[in-house]
Amino acid sequence: MATAVSTPTMDPNVSAFVSAKRKLFINGKFVDAASGKTFPTFNPATGEVLANVAEGDREDINRAVKAARAAFDTGAWSKMPTAQRGKLIWKLADLIEKYQEEFAQLESLDNGKPLKISRVADVPLTVEHMRYYAGWATKIEGNTIPLILRERSKFLAYTLREPIGVVGQIIPWNFPLLMAAWKLGPALAAGCTVILKPAEQTPLSALRLAELIQEAGFPDGVVNIVPGYGETAGAALSAHPDVDKIAFTGSTEVGKLILQAAAGNLKKVSLELGGKSPNIVLDDADLDSTIPGAASAIFFNHGQCCCAGSRLFVEKKIFDKVVDGVSQIAEKIQVKAGFEPDSDMGPLVSEEQMNKVCGYMESGISEGAKAVTGGARHGNKGYFVKPTVLVNTNDKMKVVQEEIFGPVVTAIPFSDPSEIVARANDTIYGLAAGVWTSDIKKAHSIAAKLRAGTVWINCYNIFDPALPFGGYKQSGWGREMGHEVLENYTEVKSVCAALD
Ligand code: NAI
Ligand code: MG
Repeated sequence: MATAVSTPTMDPNVSAFVSAKRKLFINGKFVDAASGKTFPTFNPATGEVLANVAEGDREDINRAVKAARAAFDTGAWSKMPTAQRGKLIWKLADLIEKYQEEFAQLESLDNGKPLKISRVADVPLTVEHMRYYAGWATKIEGNTIPLILRERSKFLAYTLREPIGVVGQIIPWNFPLLMAAWKLGPALAAGCTVILKPAEQTPLSALRLAELIQEAGFPDGVVNIVPGYGETAGAALSAHPDVDKIAFTGSTEVGKLILQAAAGNLKKVSLELGGKSPNIVLDDADLDSTIPGAASAIFFNHGQCCCAGSRLFVEKKIFDKVVDGVSQIAEKIQVKAGFEPDSDMGPLVSEEQMNKVCGYMESGISEGAKAVTGGARHGNKGYFVKPTVLVNTNDKMKVVQEEIFGPVVTAIPFSDPSEIVARANDTIYGLAAGVWTSDIKKAHSIAAKLRAGTVWINCYNIFDPALPFGGYKQSGWGREMGHEVLENYTEVKSVCAALD
């Protein structure tokens, strides 16, 4: 008989956190929505209400922008000595680390992902990300520029990098806490003040983070966290005339709406959008590492990754072997509630997302694709979907062209390596790509030709705070992480002084 594994008990602080109505965080205080409304967030493993949250709307966004504007204009944050700013960001990282188990549990409950994953991925990556940007606070600087059309000694010209101002940040539900950190870390390091709107599906970890922002001692109004729906709170934030910049991660469709909304005051925009990333396996690849790598490229986080390796191109000679290997891994994946200790894959985040993913699988199968494994919902309670491998697709099918955002990979054979780059690039997206080969020349030659913001060679989903991430084509504008992201949050001022 198998030994029964006990479900970890909920941390008492987490139980208390989800039982009380959660409030908006505006100007350093937790407040009700101006309308008094609340909205539920669900446990996707059961479909039951997990917590009730104040529903931010236009009026609350106005209040938060006012607070962020005041905090910016007084210089409480932007003029604080950068060493002190860096220390506060570092202190926030320490506090997140101190309460890491609470965050891991909240993330698993609200998003559905396995607790064992949020413990080793979401939360520690958040901590390291914050620390990396704490370090940047003291290192943002301009240049001295010798003029080229004037006698050099007669002018002193230099640039200053200044914070861009009040920043609106709208984030998705796939890595709720980590996405908050990707956005907050660089904006705070640069000296900006922020209004962050978490996704309506997963507001809880950002609200717990708000408590730590308060505990760390950030000045009031520097960070405001306003959960609410996209069409209301999100739209109000992206159109707000007193917001200087908007940073968004989510669907390409909404990215385009954000752009239109931003046009009113020409606020600066950065976008991290969807993908349909090619993962290319050449016949000289080391299959012992490639097969698990290709499986994890699509199944990690239930395929709810903008960079998921969802188009698996495999050289014909090894196609069957790779498809068999990936399918065998898919079949062994334990699809269970995130709090089950042996869960490898939890439910998708919402009923809407489950229906969308199942709809894609049905569409592909009705157009002639075959599910080697999976192809349907898993169980009938909660939003679980079977890890799925589709074959017999063609490059024009919706399942090959459109972002599914679920654990569904289309495996596609190719016989002519010289054609593979064109096929891999045949997408409106350009976020990421993978190449698996033991030939270093081929690897770098293909990497050079792929129109994608990240190319992983003999690995996938390797993220590092120091390594820029973002999209070509309709996958976005600008880069997150590294020092590149700081350009999103700073303006360059040129100062030119006549010396005689
Ligand atoms: P979404 O793009 O609608 O939501 C992302 C964020 O944008 C949320 O905070 C939402 O409240 C906000 N938002 C929605 N409409 C808005 C508007 N009109 N103005 C301002 N903010 C708005 O994504 P959704 O509906 O949750 O998922 C739909 C699809 O989007 C997924 O199936 C997936 O394909 C893609 N997606 C991509 C993500 C990525 O990381 N690139 C993350 C989440 C979803
Ligand atoms: Mg949406």
